[in-house]
Amino acid sequence: ALVTTKEMFEKAFQGGYAIGAFNINNMEIVQGVVAAAKAQNSAVILQVSKSALKYAHPKYLKAMVDAAVEETGLDIALHLDHGPDLETCKECIECGFTSVMFDGSHYDYEENVAKTKEVVEYAHARGVVVEAELGKLAGVEDDVKVDAANATYTDPDQAVDFVKRTGVDSLAIAIGTSHGAYKFKGEAKLDFDRLETITKKLEDAGFHNFPIVLHGASSVDQRCVAMCNEYGGKIDGAKGIPAEMLRKASSMAVCKINMDTDLRLAMTAAIRKSFGENPAAFDPRGYLGDARNLIQELVEDKIKNVIGSVDSM
Ligand code: G3H
Ligand code: 13P
Ligand code: ZN
Ligand code: NA
Repeated sequence: ALVTTKEMFEKAFQGGYAIGAFNINNMEIVQGVVAAAKAQNSAVILQVSKSALKYAHPKYLKAMVDAAVEETGLDIALHLDHGPDLETCKECIECGFTSVMFDGSHYDYEENVAKTKEVVEYAHARGVVVEAELGKLAGVEDDVKVDAANATYTDPDQAVDFVKRTGVDSLAIAIGTSHGAYKFKGEAKLDFDRLETITKKLEDAGFHNFPIVLHGASSVDQRCVAMCNEYGGKIDGAKGIPAEMLRKASSMAVCKINMDTDLRLAMTAAIRKSFGENPAAFDPRGYLGDARNLIQELVEDKIKNVIGSVDSM
């Protein structure tokens, strides 16, 4: 069914795994992701950014997700990713999304609290859950670019105060992940101690098994990068979060892991390869079908070997 993330997160927290949240922009991505979830009997979150809404139209996205639910029989949540304002959250709730993120992480703290609270009140009155963000990730999302020097990790005491005052259902934190394909100059490093502290302080404050969200969690599969480059691409120095670190995060309080870049790389790699190997072909179902297959393969690998949500249905 089309569901909120509430039950998914309760089970994930207790089971020591995470649910994958994959960004969707078109039919092939939707189909690739849900085919993988179906094959692994896994719950899944399909998420849509503001620019995806603009690209594909909310009604088309909702209709494709409804079709996916009907066709697979899986529990699927439809989530607004990085909602910039109450208006966009309202638009998505109106359209039938089951979950929205309000991202006020770039506002000062009190403004983030006030704006998040407003979204929570609106969403909860309509049975929709809310994710918010505290701390600043490095990297690029939509038009906002944050360099590493301006990224700030989430303060644990502030996280507790934020959850208390806003009533959010889940919290995205900054512990070293970043958006996009160029996450680290040197060694990858995540602040697991901070995650532990945040979890413990939330628990002590009465928020039992409170779900944490990890954005910017693509691994940037080097085979996909190499495939892009082999067939005319030019992607240099791309680096993501090692699978091992995501496995560890998934075993902890992290219940939702966001991945978009990995899907983009897989789609591009498959299409470049198809163009490279079949220069005379021009049926879009050929190269888009290849892209869909590679996305499925990638997402199945995540579900089995990274986030551990196999048989979470
Ligand atoms: O965090 C951002 C997501 O990767 C969505 O990116 O706004 O280009 O769709 P987008
Ligand atoms: P990646 O860029 O690491 O895929 O992160 C996606 C994301 O956080 C979407 O909200
Ligand atoms: Zn994000
Ligand atoms: Na977890």
